[in-house]
Amino acid sequence: MTIPAVGLGTWQGLGIRNKHQDVRDSIIYALRAGYRLIDTAQSYGVEPAVGEAVRESGIPRSEITVVTKFPSEWHHDPLHALQISLDALGLDYIDIFLMHWPSAADGDEWNLLPITASPTFVETWKLMEKCVGSRCKAIGVSNFTQKLLDEVLAVATIVPVVNQVELHAFNPNLKLVPYCHEKGIRVISWSTLGGGGEHTPKANEILAHPLFKRIAANHGCSTGGLALSWAVQREICVIPKSSSLSRIEENIHLVTLTQAEMEEINEAHTTIARIRLADHISTLAGERDGEQTIKGWTKQEFGWEDADGNWLT
Ligand SMILES: NC(=O)c1ccc[n+]([C@@H]2O[C@H](COP(=O)([O-])OP(=O)(O)OC[C@H]3O[C@@H](n4cnc5c(N)ncnc54)[C@H](OP(=O)(O)O)[C@@H]3O)[C@@H](O)[C@H]2O)c1
Repeated sequence: MTIPAVGLGTWQGLGIRNKHQDVRDSIIYALRAGYRLIDTAQSYGVEPAVGEAVRESGIPRSEITVVTKFPSEWHHDPLHALQISLDALGLDYIDIFLMHWPSAADGDEWNLLPITASPTFVETWKLMEKCVGSRCKAIGVSNFTQKLLDEVLAVATIVPVVNQVELHAFNPNLKLVPYCHEKGIRVISWSTLGGGGEHTPKANEILAHPLFKRIAANHGCSTGGLALSWAVQREICVIPKSSSLSRIEENIHLVTLTQAEMEEINEAHTTIARIRLADHISTLAGERDGEQTIKGWTKQEFGWEDADGNWLT
């Protein structure tokens, strides 16, 4: 299976809904500008607009890679979740179907279960393997660390084709990416541009810091283009979201960086700032026994940090 290096993200921001026409039109614009990968999820509420755009773009369906994700409440029944996405998209098949987060929920999306409760993410993966066929070409995961992937790979018949994770200059995942590549798993970066500063204004530095401006000027590109080029040069797919037609066009044009420039950006998490956006996303935040949780689990349970708070990824 091949996957385009650059795609269009479709998460519209916290609490934003009912943008069907705008989202549809921007996806059609992107497809006609050369994009061939669209990333969405059930929880973004835009699958109907994605499907409509894919059907009406005039681009053959076989040329387009549609990625969508099912939420924690369907971990016990991914086959049913697949049908929900197919119905919402109005498409005959999905190219890549992802487990959005490793944590399962009981009944509704926010009644999150502990890491050891059934269905575990490993049990869900085994159920997902049954999804692969004419209605779902491939399956993958999202927000998985090496710790969690090791458990999946120990029992998997099908290796996840992708792992979609938060990845940007302030959280470069320098260990996770080579691990995934060694296992044949393609990494897709979310919030490569810092998510537009939606979760923490500090993330805007990815587009504004003098270091990035200097390197971008060397190549006559914007800092946005620089951030995307850096990731793709590491063989990571990117899925920038934009509702601006000019930025949609801009984001698909990449530049080639020197090794020294790559290393400067690789080190930005030590020289400028280290930020895990997931720590700042209010809708993911929770607490258990006085400890902060993200999507129901602690950072140690995810495998993001050790007991002393050292980053592991
Ligand atoms: N798997 C997961 O858990 C997960 C989590 C989050 C996101 N995602 C996926 O990843 C996609 C990308 O992440 P994201 O949307 O959080 O953030 P992002 O793509 O890093 O940033 C999007 C923001 O950057 C702006 N932007 C786009 N291109 C730009 C450029 N060239 N220069 C300056 N600003 C630019 C956009 O504004 P305009 O629209 O005004 O251009 C928007 O505010 C999502 O849309 C979603 O599909 C997945």
